[in-house]
Amino acid sequence: MEQNKPLKYHIYTYGCQMNVRDSEIIGGLLEDNGYEEASSPESADLILFNTCSVRHSAENKIYGKLGEINLLKRNNPELIVALGGCMAQLPDCRQKLKKIGVDVLFGTHNLYEVPFLVSKSRETGEKVWQVWDEEGREIEEFPANRHNGLSAFVNIMYGCNNFCSYCIVPYTRGRERSRKPEDIINEIQQLAEQGCREVTLLGQNVNSYGKTNNQDADFADLLGLVNGIDGIERIRFTTSHPKDMSDKLIEAIAVNHKVCEHVHVPLQAGSNRILQKMNRKYTREHYLELVGKMRDRIPGIAITSDLIVGFPGESDQDFRDTLDMVNTVRFDAAFTFLYSPRQGTKAADLIDQIPIEVKKSRLNELMTVQYQIAKEINTSLEGSIQEVFVEGPSKTNAEKLMARTRTNRIVIISAAKDLIGQIIHVKITEGKTFSLMGDVVI
Ligand code: SAH
Ligand code: SF4
Ligand code: F3S
Repeated sequence: MEQNKPLKYHIYTYGCQMNVRDSEIIGGLLEDNGYEEASSPESADLILFNTCSVRHSAENKIYGKLGEINLLKRNNPELIVALGGCMAQLPDCRQKLKKIGVDVLFGTHNLYEVPFLVSKSRETGEKVWQVWDEEGREIEEFPANRHNGLSAFVNIMYGCNNFCSYCIVPYTRGRERSRKPEDIINEIQQLAEQGCREVTLLGQNVNSYGKTNNQDADFADLLGLVNGIDGIERIRFTTSHPKDMSDKLIEAIAVNHKVCEHVHVPLQAGSNRILQKMNRKYTREHYLELVGKMRDRIPGIAITSDLIVGFPGESDQDFRDTLDMVNTVRFDAAFTFLYSPRQGTKAADLIDQIPIEVKKSRLNELMTVQYQIAKEINTSLEGSIQEVFVEGPSKTNAEKLMARTRTNRIVIISAAKDLIGQIIHVKITEGKTFSLMGDVVI
């Protein structure tokens, strides 16, 4: 009887939305092969790590957790530990993983082999490591265990060709590949039929969509096509690169009413000297011009960013240039990072690395400035009426619900659970640094 019990899996997902989406696919593939999702890691027969290597801190967190999980194997020798994602693509990580030990290793290009690799390891009791160094053919129509039926991530492209000098992603995800517009539209139509109301189009650089594989639609065209799908009410997308933010795209965001007024368009640094060393291919002047155009054409648009401090050779003046851009643009929100050297990238070999104390003190200063700006902008919204999509229970207060404005601001509201999945209006009662409080407007 014991043998008939379905095997259980648990996935730890780290990193960006790509990985969240990949984990949904891995879950779907395992379920097609008879697995069920475990209620806890302790009750799982298979534990998977979908990993990120964008910064040293991300990798360290994963090594720590992996050590913990390997201890579970003492009580349950049948437990299979599998690791995939970006770390698996990197030779130096694979060396370390050899010492730590994982039963199954798979990369970002061979996700769909996971059920096969796991059963092979289970049957033979051997380690099964299979990573492809290069991207294969993209496969359409994967099963997926999407956790949220109302809002879905949809890949429109894979990989990245930009080779920003600090970034490991082009090495872990391969060259840029755009999916066919008809495959994307079919997937979103199916999602809409299943009750999905919001899609987030994913890519490392969505606004260069279509340039690879000679697709007949560019990103602006694609937004128009998705806007025409019945049942979808909100369209989001991430990430946009400043160099590819065309006038045509700004116009498409303005005229397609389902496309939300939010762009995540990372500046990374405010000094032209550093931007050039980062291989970002734009200047601060170009970025400011873009911000001006977007704000003129799309009133109320939220502009968010990623910022890195402590890139090799960053002088105090370079850092002041970043602060100056933050004060000039006034980002609605920004993720701020300490530069982390990644083996294999150009910047990691630069000799003028910045001492950690300097990086930390710059990061603190930057965060203080950015958080103050976010708080001021959010406070200025007090008393306004906002259209929000009610996503589910609040993560911090189970009695309340979490909703999101078109500009991607979280609003915590008191409302009945049957409003989940609805688009409603709320009056903002309080603006905080990272969220708003609101009351439902009848
Ligand atoms: N393709 C996206 C996201 C890439 S990773 C983009 O181009 O914006 C997300 C963010 O991590 C980047 O925007 C960058 O700010 C940060 N990042 C990437 N590599 C880093 C590194 N080596 N050290 C610190 N931050 C890094
Ligand atoms: Fe990395 Fe630059 Fe590509 Fe973004 S655009 S994934 S930062 S190389
Ligand atoms: Fe991390 Fe890979 Fe995404 S390195 S940020 S999980 S593409």
